[in-house]
Amino acid sequence: MKQTILVTGGTGFIGSHTSVELIEAGYKVVIVDDLSNSKIEVLDGIEKITGVRPAFEKIDLRDKNATEQLFKKYPDIDGIIHFAASKAVGESVQKPLLYYRNNIVSLINLLELMPKYDVKGIIFSSSCTVYGQPKPENLPVTEDAPHQKATSPYGNTKEINEQIIYDYIHSGAPIKSIILRYFNPIGAHSSALIGELPNGVPNNLIPYVTQTAMGIRKQLTIFGNDYNTPDGTCIRDYIYVVDLAKAHVAAMARVLDKDTEPIEYFNIGTGKGNSTLEIVETFEKATGVKLNWKYGPRREGDIEKIWGDCTKANKVLGWKAETPLDDVLRSAWKWQQKLREDGVM
Ligand code: NAD
Ligand code: WQD
Repeated sequence: MKQTILVTGGTGFIGSHTSVELIEAGYKVVIVDDLSNSKIEVLDGIEKITGVRPAFEKIDLRDKNATEQLFKKYPDIDGIIHFAASKAVGESVQKPLLYYRNNIVSLINLLELMPKYDVKGIIFSSSCTVYGQPKPENLPVTEDAPHQKATSPYGNTKEINEQIIYDYIHSGAPIKSIILRYFNPIGAHSSALIGELPNGVPNNLIPYVTQTAMGIRKQLTIFGNDYNTPDGTCIRDYIYVVDLAKAHVAAMARVLDKDTEPIEYFNIGTGKGNSTLEIVETFEKATGVKLNWKYGPRREGDIEKIWGDCTKANKVLGWKAETPLDDVLRSAWKWQQKLREDGVM
C-alpha cells in the first residue's frame, strides 16, 4: 500500500518540488499550508507535472485544534516533512516574536500530535545557518562541526527546533526524525511549472539575478569584494532545489522503513563552494544574458564562506547532488521568463 506523507508548507518553494518528487516516487501526498508565503495555483503546477493533484488543506499550523482535525481527516499519515516556517532573515530581526511563535509553536503542535495519530517519522528543514561562520580548518563543514550562535532570530528558531526534536526523542517519544541542513537552495523545476516566488524585493541572490536579467531590478549589487576568498566575494554551496527535493524522498524512506537511530542529521548541499562572482559569470554564460551588476559594500551579518561536506548523505542516504550549476541557473532563468509570460512579474 502507498505510504501517505504530510507535507507542511507544501505549496512553498522547496515543499512544492518535494511534493512532485514524492508523488513520482509513489507516495500519497497531503499538503498543508496557510498560503502566507505561497499561492494555491502551485497545486496546478504539481498536477500538470505529475498527473496527480495532492490533497490540500489550508491550515495555520499554530492552531493546534485545526491541526488535530487534519490528522483526524487523514488517519493514514505515515510521515511528515515539515517545511512550513517563516524564513526571511531580515524580517526575523524586525519581528522576532512572529518568527519564534510561527516556527516553534507549529513544530511543537506536530510533535505532540504524532504519537496520538501513530505518525512514525518527521523530516525537519534545518539550515546551514546553524553553523554560523565555520573556522577555515572546518571547511567544508561536517554535521558534527562546532556550532556558533546563529546570527538572527530565524537562525535561532532552526537551532531551537533541532534541540526540541532531540529532547523529545531523547525523552522516549515513539517517533524518529531526520534533520536535513540545507545549504543554499536555488533553481526551479525543468518544466518551469513550479519555482520560487519571492515576495517583494528579493533578498536572495538568484531571484535578484533573474529579476535583474528581466529588467525588474535595475542593477545587481555584489555585496563586498574584499573578503578573504580567491576573488574577494562570498562563497556559498548552491544546491539545486530538485536535487534537494530528492534528498527528502531518500530521508523519508530511511526514517520510515529502516531500523535506524531515532535521530540523524545530514548536510544537503553539493560539497562545493561557488563565489558570488562565479554565480554571476556562470549565469551570463549559461543564459547568454548580460547582467547589469556592480560591487557594493558588504551586507551586514553575511557569512564570508561556507560549503558543506555532504559525504554522510552521499553514503548513508545514497543521495548525491547531480545537476550542474549552469543547468540550475538556466532553470531559474526559464522560471523567471515563465513568470513574465504569465504576467506574474
Ligand atoms: P517558503 O516560504 O517558500 O515555504 C514555506 C511555506 O510554509 C509557505 O508556503 C508558507 O505559506 C507556509 N507556512 C508558513 N507558516 C505556516 C503556518 N504557520 N502554517 C501553515 N503554513 C505555513 O520557504 P522555502 O524556501 O520553501 O523553505 C522551506 C523550509 O526550508 C523552511 O522551513 C525554511 O526555513 C527552510 N530552509 C529554507 C532555505 C532557503 O534558502 N529557501 C534554506 C534552508 C532552510
Ligand atoms: C548569497 C550570497 C550575499 C544578494 C540566506 C539565509 C540562510 C539560508 C539561505 C535559510 C551572499 C550575496 C545576495 C544580492 C549579493 N536560508 N548577494 N547580492 O545569505 O547565504 O543565506 O538564505 O535557512 O539562513 O541567511 O543567501 O541568497 O541571501 O546570499 O551579493 O543582492 O549572495 O552576500 O554572499 P545567504 P543569499
